[in-house]
Amino acid sequence: MKIVVFGPTGMVGQGALREALLDPAVDSVVTVARSAMPVTSPKQRHVVHADFGDLSPIAAEVADADACFFCMGVTSAGLTEAEYMPVTHDYAVEAARVVGGTFVYVSGEGADASSNTMWARVKGRTENELLALDRPAFVVRPGFIQPRHGITSRTRIYRYLYSWTGWLIPVLRRLAPKFVTSTDELGRAMVALAKGAQPTVRVLRSDEINRLAR
Ligand SMILES: NC(=O)c1ccc[n+]([C@@H]2O[C@H](COP(=O)([O-])OP(=O)(O)OC[C@H]3O[C@@H](n4cnc5c(N)ncnc54)[C@H](OP(=O)(O)O)[C@@H]3O)[C@@H](O)[C@H]2O)c1
Repeated sequence: MKIVVFGPTGMVGQGALREALLDPAVDSVVTVARSAMPVTSPKQRHVVHADFGDLSPIAAEVADADACFFCMGVTSAGLTEAEYMPVTHDYAVEAARVVGGTFVYVSGEGADASSNTMWARVKGRTENELLALDRPAFVVRPGFIQPRHGITSRTRIYRYLYSWTGWLIPVLRRLAPKFVTSTDELGRAMVALAKGAQPTVRVLRSDEINRLAR
């Protein structure tokens, strides 16, 4: 099985990449990012690509994939909708155009196409557009994600948030299990979707992500 990962240097992407490389059913993982990254497994091939609005130059390499994990993302803080759209929406739609197989879009808890909150509206609309495509597609909507195995976020505000609130995670897991997952559970759930798991819903919140990971 061949999986393509966008955003492999990020917190979610590192988790997805780790679990994909660990799974014996996965023969190869193509990671695509705007810069180089350490390649630690013979299963991984890393492609550096600059313009995520046009993936045609790498289409031949990714068209035969069995699954695509779209883990790229930016924080909406301080961005206008026009600035938030490219990474969150346009690059995802372009990835879905060129990469074959099951498409898994990493969204976030609270995404809602009709929301007055910009990030939630953009993510919700993107989800709807991707789910309407004539192909297998799923959305994962994590809430709080516990970073494991030394994985860290690329976003400074999240790094601070996790370093200050890490102790809270076991409490949150008990009090609000619907809102908490981890990088490895999220990665394992995505690999399960790539392997053909058929959950009862196509938009998976943290509790469904964790169930699938088990
Ligand atoms: N972390 C959380 O707690 C959390 C919770 C719920 C949902 N999510 C969602 O999960 C997704 C990933 O989040 P994350 O925490 O993994 O973020 P992250 O650690 O900040 O990583 C973001 C990833 O996106 C890539 N990226 C950002 N802007 C790019 C651009 N213009 N061109 C190419 N690549 C770009 C980064 O690549 P570079 O290394 O090149 O910068 C990196 O690989 C986001 O959509 C986020 O909303 C995250």
